[in-house]
Amino acid sequence: MEQLIINGGAALHGRVDISGAKNAALGIIAAALLADGVSTIENVPCVNDVRVLIEAIMDLGVKVEYLDEHTVKIDSRKVDKLVVDYEHIKKIRASYYLLGALLGRFNRSEVAMPGGCNIGQRPIDQHIKGFEALGATVELEHGMVKATADKLVGTNIYLDVVSVGATINIMLSAVMAEGLTVIENPAKEPHIVDVANYLNSMGADIKGAGTDLIKIHGVEKMHGSEYMIIPDQIEAGTYMVAAAITGGDVVVGNLIPKHMEAISAKLHEMGVEVTEEQDTLRVTAKHPLKGVNVKTLPYPGFPTDMQPQMTVLLSIAEGPSVITESIFENRFSYVDELNRMGVKIKVDGNTARTDGVEMLQGAEITATDLRAGAAMVLAGLVAHGETVINHVDFIDRGYEFIEHKLRSLGADIVRKTDDVDRGMFKVV
Ligand code: EPZ
Repeated sequence: MEQLIINGGAALHGRVDISGAKNAALGIIAAALLADGVSTIENVPCVNDVRVLIEAIMDLGVKVEYLDEHTVKIDSRKVDKLVVDYEHIKKIRASYYLLGALLGRFNRSEVAMPGGCNIGQRPIDQHIKGFEALGATVELEHGMVKATADKLVGTNIYLDVVSVGATINIMLSAVMAEGLTVIENPAKEPHIVDVANYLNSMGADIKGAGTDLIKIHGVEKMHGSEYMIIPDQIEAGTYMVAAAITGGDVVVGNLIPKHMEAISAKLHEMGVEVTEEQDTLRVTAKHPLKGVNVKTLPYPGFPTDMQPQMTVLLSIAEGPSVITESIFENRFSYVDELNRMGVKIKVDGNTARTDGVEMLQGAEITATDLRAGAAMVLAGLVAHGETVINHVDFIDRGYEFIEHKLRSLGADIVRKTDDVDRGMFKVV
């Protein structure tokens, strides 16, 4: 089993560049199936969730070629299977985007029902509501979601919950439906806009992505396209917190400052200096930092995927902080592991309170999910002594070469590994 081993204490310095956005890449790779053609996608992050989704579409007959480490050519002219097995879904929930994409192009798809995960139950009722509103029949049988339609017809769909996944899946299934589809109360995350922009570059007619109302005029056919994925908002936020928690001075580059506003504002409130310059943010921090209150919300609010990282930062700030998680019902389970490092965080339902401690102690801990794993790395960077993190596979799901990037900023971090060849990319 691989581990990350960190000796804390170094203040991070220098520049780190952000990779492509995982949550945009997953929607875009699924969307490529809508084209009876070939797409070339650039700035694809080298993270395991992307690798798994590519395996899943290759299993459907799609030809995929890596032109370089971050550029993928997707030829979806010959899709010969419309069933996505549990083997893939059980690894990543976003395989459910294949449900919308295959339904949108072939009026038929069958995908294993995604289960819950450590952060919550995560139902897909809004996805199904959207497919049914467009005229599909959706059946749940033997753990499979089966969607079929004679014809998909545009209509008005009101989302009862602001859902990233449902918004993207409805866009995927509506772009070739007959007539106009209107999505009310959609999610507005940057990756929603990126998937819509890619779909429009393939010939779709989507307006209003990123606003409270999305309008989609169905088109007959979609073609291949060349596209570049946006930088990852959450990876960028994670490195901004890494700079702040170590009292460092880091330029986080290749990001879109607008996407970082909620995170920058909270860091600023804590006394961290965040300076914007073109597509970079310079983050400079001197301790002690001030405790603040944070509530996670759909975009443009404070992202839930930054909650664990922010909570770790607040656990060493001066004064009280209250963190409220409003998106997922079980997103504080990682705190039990952090207790081993001497944090003082009290969890009560979807709220956590901390008064801050002066120092964390290095310890052996186990990642419980992707973002919790990243938060544990941040804790290790500032802790006294050595921290050993298990279940690193969670972190590799969404962070590209995390230890290399951190080492380039002066962190003392290594990966204890069996020197595994990761197929498409090697660890050096
Ligand atoms: C996406 O998950 C992201 N995953 C998550 O990031 C992120 O935490 C989440 O959006 C919120 O921003 C990907 O993009 C692959 P939702 P998703 O549908 O689409 C409820 C990461 O770390 N809901 O917006 O699954 C749901 O239970 C991951 O990169 C329903 O009730 O999230 C949740 O409480 C973790 N019914 C809320 O809505 C539905 O049909 C928001 O979920 C759908 C969702």
